[in-house]
Amino acid sequence: MKFKINNGFIYFFGALGGLLFGYDTGVISGAILFIKKDLHLTSWTEGIVVSSILFGCMIGAAFSGALSDRWGRRKVVILAAAVFCIGALGTALAPNTGVLIAFRIILGIAVGSASTLVPMYLSEMAPASIRGALSSLNQLMIMTGILLAYVVNYIFSASEGWRWMLGLALIPALLLLIGMIFLPESPRWLLKQGKDDQARSILNNMRKGAGVEAEIKEIKLANEQANGGLKNLKEKWVRPALIVGIGLAVFQQIIGCNTVLYYAPTTFTNVGLGASAAILGTVGIGIVNVIVTAIAVAIIDKVGRKPLLLIGNAGMSIALFALVFVSKLMGAAGASGWVTVICLAVYILFFSLTWGPVVWVMMSEIFPLSIRGAGMGIGSVANWLANLVVSLTYPKLIELFGINTMFLVYGIMGILAFIFVSAKVSETKGKSLEQIELELKDKPIRKLG
Ligand code: GLC
Repeated sequence: MKFKINNGFIYFFGALGGLLFGYDTGVISGAILFIKKDLHLTSWTEGIVVSSILFGCMIGAAFSGALSDRWGRRKVVILAAAVFCIGALGTALAPNTGVLIAFRIILGIAVGSASTLVPMYLSEMAPASIRGALSSLNQLMIMTGILLAYVVNYIFSASEGWRWMLGLALIPALLLLIGMIFLPESPRWLLKQGKDDQARSILNNMRKGAGVEAEIKEIKLANEQANGGLKNLKEKWVRPALIVGIGLAVFQQIIGCNTVLYYAPTTFTNVGLGASAAILGTVGIGIVNVIVTAIAVAIIDKVGRKPLLLIGNAGMSIALFALVFVSKLMGAAGASGWVTVICLAVYILFFSLTWGPVVWVMMSEIFPLSIRGAGMGIGSVANWLANLVVSLTYPKLIELFGINTMFLVYGIMGILAFIFVSAKVSETKGKSLEQIELELKDKPIRKLG
């Protein structure tokens, strides 16, 4: 029968959307060099080709969550997988810039959907004790996708094969499409629809029968107490979850992760490495990111989400302040290249260990089931919007204020994020999603502070 598949298979295919997220957002950094030449892009159209995907991401994030509350998680992931396939083919075969941009937006719709649905699906499938680890598989797959993109870029750079770089995303997209057809629906969503028997059979299969009736009872209890669907978004008791969801999503971007990640390779060239050494250095960063994210997967359910977020802010801000401080100290000569490399490497290390995975995990945990898809969608839209604003303004801001001032600003954002997390975020480690929901209902006043 369809549901007799093992958990590893479920979690792997569930997380595959993350790999596409990473690949599709990472691949452009290399491909753009050749697209620019081939399609004669101006600096204006180059910017649009690169960032058009982010517009699509916002659209995908905005609709996929709410749609999955209505149709189920699985169906919408299947739809997103089909869009991933269309986007991969469309961008690879695009005859001109306009078509390329249109398909980048379509691809973005799939990426935005994956960013909302994958962590949610994984956290709804997982038992509470290892939920953090399983949901952070998403970020591990994102990092793996970025690494794969770097490697593919490296392989095809000699032949300037940008169409291959973009088109190879079709392979994981097809895998996701086929895999999802065999995966079960989220039992939590099924219970909300009153499809108890189906939910029970999936849970029995996944948990080998252990504690299934208790889990079902708990989910149903939370369901009974939280009827009203999307109307709940306006309820006062849900507000703390919205504040935390949006706050974490926005802070993850305005602490500068994508600009530092994106420009780190350029830094290698600036310290005097040759082009191919710089590309290899980039692959090196990619490998370290995957390893560090794997460590995060291993420790997130032991250390907890909140301590990781706080440690991350401390580490990232200190790295940035150290960089600015040393640069100022060295004056016109500028910080030695290697100081820059070390500080940015420390920054990226802390990001991959903490804010990278934890934000997506927490966003999938903090909303009550009746609005989980919509709430996650709102957090995700906020994340992509902040990403778009930061990426679009970054080059101009550096030009106006210099790179050191920007690092200083990101460092200060890190301190604000630290304060936000200390004041507003409650630990979710080890609790069932229903327990988190009931606690939210119990203490809205205190959390609104
Ligand atoms: C997180 C961020 C995303 C970033 C990625 C890098 O998933 O949400 O914006 O590109 O980490 O690893």
